[in-house]
Amino acid sequence: MISDKPWWSESVIYQIYPRSFFDSNGDGEGDLPGVTSHLEHVQALGADAIWLSPFYTSPNKDGGYDVADPRDVDPRFGNLEDARAMIVRAHQLGLRVLVDVVPNHFSDQHPWFKDAISAKPGSPERDRFHFYDAKPDGTPPNNWISLFGGPAWTQIKTADGSSQYYLHLFDSSQPDLNWENKDLASDFEETLRFWLDLGVDGFRIDVAHGLAKENILVDHHDPQGLSDALRLDAQMSAEKRGELLASVPFFDRDGVHAVYRNWRKVFDSYNRDIMAVAEAWVHPPVRAMRYVRSDELQQVFNFDLLVAPFVATYLFKCISDTLEMLSEVDAPATWALSNHDTPRVASRHGANASRALALFVMALPGSCYIYNGQELGLPDAELADSVRQDPSFFRTKGVQKGRDGARVPMPWSGDKTPFGFSSGSPWLPIPNEWSEFSVDAQHADSASTLNLYRSALKIRKNNLVGAGEIEWVDRGETGLLSFARGEFAVYLNTSSAALEIPTVGTLALGSNFEITLLNGVLTLPAASAAWVAIR
Ligand code: NOJ
Repeated sequence: MISDKPWWSESVIYQIYPRSFFDSNGDGEGDLPGVTSHLEHVQALGADAIWLSPFYTSPNKDGGYDVADPRDVDPRFGNLEDARAMIVRAHQLGLRVLVDVVPNHFSDQHPWFKDAISAKPGSPERDRFHFYDAKPDGTPPNNWISLFGGPAWTQIKTADGSSQYYLHLFDSSQPDLNWENKDLASDFEETLRFWLDLGVDGFRIDVAHGLAKENILVDHHDPQGLSDALRLDAQMSAEKRGELLASVPFFDRDGVHAVYRNWRKVFDSYNRDIMAVAEAWVHPPVRAMRYVRSDELQQVFNFDLLVAPFVATYLFKCISDTLEMLSEVDAPATWALSNHDTPRVASRHGANASRALALFVMALPGSCYIYNGQELGLPDAELADSVRQDPSFFRTKGVQKGRDGARVPMPWSGDKTPFGFSSGSPWLPIPNEWSEFSVDAQHADSASTLNLYRSALKIRKNNLVGAGEIEWVDRGETGLLSFARGEFAVYLNTSSAALEIPTVGTLALGSNFEITLLNGVLTLPAASAAWVAIR
C-alpha cells in the first residue's frame, strides 16, 4: 500500500540510546561507529527512521542531556566525521535520522554559563539564564523544586563577593536558559541548521514544554500541596502527575509556541521533508495539540501509553481520545511504549502483555516509537545502587532509584555478559541471565519477541500504512478491545481469562503461539493480541 502522506505521518522510529547500543572501541560505552555498524539490525526490524539521544559534547551528568557544545560530538561517542558517516549509512539503508535538540538548558560547562558565572549580576551574560538574587532571608528566589529532587535553585558566589541563584529544573549542572534573551533564538537556529546541513531529517525536542517560565519571583502553591512529589520518573498515578503538570508555572506556557513557529520556518527553508517531535508532558492531554498546529511541529509524543495500566477500558479511552483530538488538528498520532526515561514496557506489564500491547499498537494509524531493546522484550535490569548514574538517584538521596534500569546496554550475541555489546566492561552491568534476550538468540527463535516485531512491521508496511482510520468494534468492557482497519481485524485481550471470539478470516499474526482461529472462533488467551485478515 502506498501512502501519499509525508514519511513521518505513519512511520516506525527506532530510538537509539547511543551509550547503550554498541561499543566499537572497547571502552564499555556505545558510540557512533557502533551505531553505524549495527544499523542493519534496525533496517531488518523494519523501522523507517532512527532517533538518537544526545551524543554532543557533555560532561554527561544527565546522560548527555547536559549539553556543553550542541554543535560537536563528545569524544566518548566519536567525532563529527563519525556522525556524518552514521547519517550516510542510515540513508543508504533507507533510514531517516532524527537527533535530539535540548533547548531548555545547557550544561554548566557550556561557554555561555562559564561566561555568566564570571560576569556581574545584571550583565548580558547572566541574562541568558535565570539568575536572581536571594530573597531577603537568603533563601532561593522561589520555592520551585527540581524534577530530579531538591531545590530548583543553586547559589553561586563570584570573586567580587556577590552571590546569586540560578534556576535549574533538572540537575544543578543543567542551568535553564532564558528564552526571552535574544541570543537564544539565533544560537538554536544555528544548531538546527548545523545538523540539517550535516544531513539529519529532523529533531526530537527535549522538554519542549518548558522554555517559557512565568511568575519566577512568586512562590508556587499548587492546590493540593503536591509539588514536592514532582519527578519525571515517579511511580505516581497518571492522575496525580496530570494535576501537577497542569499547575506548575514553568511548563506548557503559551510563550513556548513562538519558538516552534520560528523553528518551523527553519525546517521549511530546506527543500526536503524535515520533521520535529515535541517531548511535551502536558495536561490535560488536549493541550498537546497546540504543539502540532499547522505552523508548528509535526508530531508531539503521546505519553499516555507509557504510564497506562494494562486495562482494556483505560487503553480504549487513551487511544480513542488521542485519535479524536489529533484528527481535529490533522496531525498524526505517536505511540510509545518505552523510552529511556520510564520503566520498560516488559517490566511494567510482563512479557505476554507487553508483546500483546505492542502488536495492538503497531496496527494503529500514526507513528510508532520503539526504544532499543524493546524489540527484544528486555525488562529493566536490577542494579546495585553502587552502579547507578542517574542524577535523580543522587538528588533524592536514593528515594527515587532513577532510570538506569531502562538504560542497560543491548545484548547482541553469545551466552555470557556483556553479550557482544563491548570487548570491555559495560558502563552499566548487563545481567548474566540475558542470553535469551540477545539479538542472535532471538533471530534464531521463531517465537521470539524480535521475530514478532519483524513480522508485525512487515505486515504493517505492506498492508496497514495508508489504510486509513480505525473502526472500533469492542471498547474494552469485557477486557476485549478490537477494531477493524484496512484488511485486518485487530484484537487485544487484557483480561486474565481466555476469550472466544466469533471471527471471519484467517489468523495473520498473534502475540503468542497459543492463539488459534478455528471454525470461525478466535481463541485469545489472557494477555494476548491477534491480527486477523478479514478481506
Ligand atoms: C527529558 C529527557 O528525555 C531526559 O532523559 C532528561 O533527563 C530530561 N529531559 C532533561 O533534559
